[in-house]
Amino acid sequence: SDPALADRARRARAALGDRAFVLGHHYQRDEVIEFADVTGDSFKLAQQAAARPEAEYVVFCGVHFMAESADILTSPSQQVVLPDLAAGCSMADMAALGQVEDAWEVLAEAGLADSTVPVAYMNSSAAIKAFTGRNGGTICTSSNADRSLRWAFERGERVLFLPDQHLGRNTAVLQLGLSLEDCVVYNPHKPGGGVTVEQLRAAKMILWRGHCSVHGRFSKDNVDDVRARIPGVNVLVHPECRFDVVTAADSVGSTEHIIRTLEAAPAGSSWAVGTELNLVSRLAKAHPDKQIVFLDKTVCYCSTMNRIDLPHLVWALESLVEGRMVNRIVVDGDTAHWAKVALERMLALPG
Ligand code: 13P
Ligand code: SF4
Repeated sequence: SDPALADRARRARAALGDRAFVLGHHYQRDEVIEFADVTGDSFKLAQQAAARPEAEYVVFCGVHFMAESADILTSPSQQVVLPDLAAGCSMADMAALGQVEDAWEVLAEAGLADSTVPVAYMNSSAAIKAFTGRNGGTICTSSNADRSLRWAFERGERVLFLPDQHLGRNTAVLQLGLSLEDCVVYNPHKPGGGVTVEQLRAAKMILWRGHCSVHGRFSKDNVDDVRARIPGVNVLVHPECRFDVVTAADSVGSTEHIIRTLEAAPAGSSWAVGTELNLVSRLAKAHPDKQIVFLDKTVCYCSTMNRIDLPHLVWALESLVEGRMVNRIVVDGDTAHWAKVALERMLALPG
């Protein structure tokens, strides 16, 4: 990265001192991660958001839904800044509030809404989180989806899982022991979700038809290829990958799980990692005693995570030093209230 810009970032960061708290998701660029006070997966960052009540500014180096959650979980006097407002998430955009309300109406008309518990993946807008809060549901991340689903099944007969069909299916089948036949996919672009009332009634998991454009690119062929190329390789993937990829892998888990697994791996072991490339490259550099390769052969960054780069971070930090608020993320009061109800249900789950 540009040393002059890095120097400006250091100066601005020092000038802000404890007035600012910088959070960085593991998928951020190295040039940005360098300035994070705390790095984490989306669960850890949600926990950490409220950890510095004395900080006036929480600078969120991640994507929009994470910054929204930080705004909901911090005190009203704290201001959350997203250095580039274009840092969205294509998966979160796959579930709009109106579409989810329509789906709920379909369930209500079939007499199923009362026995269905909505569970929203962290990777969803605050409006979707608020919907789950209002309707007796909870949130999950990739590191606690099994516990959130168990919580939900204690309260209802079926779950409406939003918006990542893969995380929902992988967790329900591989961790809760449901079968693939217990899952049905609801397509918001088709009337009635493209499923019959009988299918909805029979389902234990109603999976929203959303996916991650980054993790969706890994295929079972990638797993077979790497096993052929590197004898003895361990395949480690994120649960946003497709079901056939996850079942062919040796280990599955959130970005924190991936980091811990590679830290604990013996020297000389080989790993093919199926998650975002900034993280995989950083881990390969951090562990030169282990062979760590990217699961796909093509480049696979999360383009929206990558929107946060050093120029945007410098601009945001220098603006705050000059007393100019930029790119503040504010969730309106009613949405924030109900989203917080749902988020707190998740945060209260036993570890
Ligand atoms: P985790 O940080 O929970 O592993 O999620 C990955 C992700 O896709 C965030 O957008
Ligand atoms: Fe969204 Fe996928 Fe990027 Fe995560 S990696 S922010 S789920 S598009």
